[in-house]
Amino acid sequence: MRILIAGASGLLGSAFAKAAQRRKHETIGLVGNYSHRIEGLDQQKQIDLHDIASLEKLVLETFPDAIVNCAAYANPSDCETDPDKTAEINVAVPEKLALLARHLFARYLHISSDQVFDGTDAPYTVSATPNPPNQYARQKLESEKRVLEMAPEFASVIRIPLLNGNSPRCTRSIHENLFEAWSQGERPSLFVDEYRQPCLTDNLAETMVELCERSDSRGLLHWAGQDRLSRYEIGRRILEHFGLPPDFIREARRGDDPKFAHRQGDLSLDLQPLAGILKTRPQAFAEQLDALIVPQSYRAWYNAI
Ligand SMILES: NC(=O)c1ccc[n+]([C@@H]2O[C@H](COP(=O)([O-])OP(=O)(O)OC[C@H]3O[C@@H](n4cnc5c(N)ncnc54)[C@H](OP(=O)(O)O)[C@@H]3O)[C@@H](O)[C@H]2O)c1
Repeated sequence: MRILIAGASGLLGSAFAKAAQRRKHETIGLVGNYSHRIEGLDQQKQIDLHDIASLEKLVLETFPDAIVNCAAYANPSDCETDPDKTAEINVAVPEKLALLARHLFARYLHISSDQVFDGTDAPYTVSATPNPPNQYARQKLESEKRVLEMAPEFASVIRIPLLNGNSPRCTRSIHENLFEAWSQGERPSLFVDEYRQPCLTDNLAETMVELCERSDSRGLLHWAGQDRLSRYEIGRRILEHFGLPPDFIREARRGDDPKFAHRQGDLSLDLQPLAGILKTRPQAFAEQLDALIVPQSYRAWYNAI
């Protein structure tokens, strides 16, 4: 299968490229500013996705059997700062790719987020009512609607949780963000009352490859890890995994500072129907930790402590 991957240089897109190539698919990856080679890609093409006309031309020339969209402005603060610019990538691009998938009779996977929920009524099933509390979450919800309206016969929209993994830029995943803070002498405060169900990118990528290969399982889907953990517990277990001192993180509550009171308390997801039909299994957090490596940019700091 020829698979076109938008956002192939990101945390998830780069893991998907490797997983798809392992399954002998032809992988054509679209990257934005990232200039190094991404492992797992047969072809790597640079494009600014704000240029929708060039995107359309490239997709039609490539004529893929499947389109996988991992491109996004995935940092919520960017979406608050510039809602119009970020919506071009987070809403207009997914909709355009859905239209092109329909035109080409191609399978289409679009990635959404657990953030579409308000965190007051977890675990969330695929039929639960979203209530997005911020601009990023509103854009993700809008993208879901447009994709499923545009290409109902071809599209799966997968809502995913906070991701573990090793990103090409070493700046995107949970442990990479912690390493960045620690290396600058910070001791991050992590909430004991903010629950997430983290997932490893490699496991999610296997799920996505399986979904590309299947002609069923369209529509809205949820995927995550097995374990629901507080942010503090996630940080504590990452510290333990890397053998770092326990006082590198501090315990906090969302209500300690009014700035954080709005953060969603519990975004755990119900994984049916997907978990009941796929060969790939949701992973325990312990298994996910085994895959995490010290990010390249912090190795010198890590070896010195
Ligand atoms: N990370 C998480 O914990 C998490 C949680 C829930 C949902 N999600 C969703 O999962 C998906 C993947 O997220 P991620 O964490 O892998 O994101 P990421 O690491 O930030 O990667 C984003 C990708 O989008 C590309 N991109 C952004 N703007 C572009 C533009 N104008 N032109 C071309 N490419 C552009 C980037 O390319 P360059 O880097 O080359 O510029 C990069 O490949 C997103 O839909 C995100 O909303 C992520």
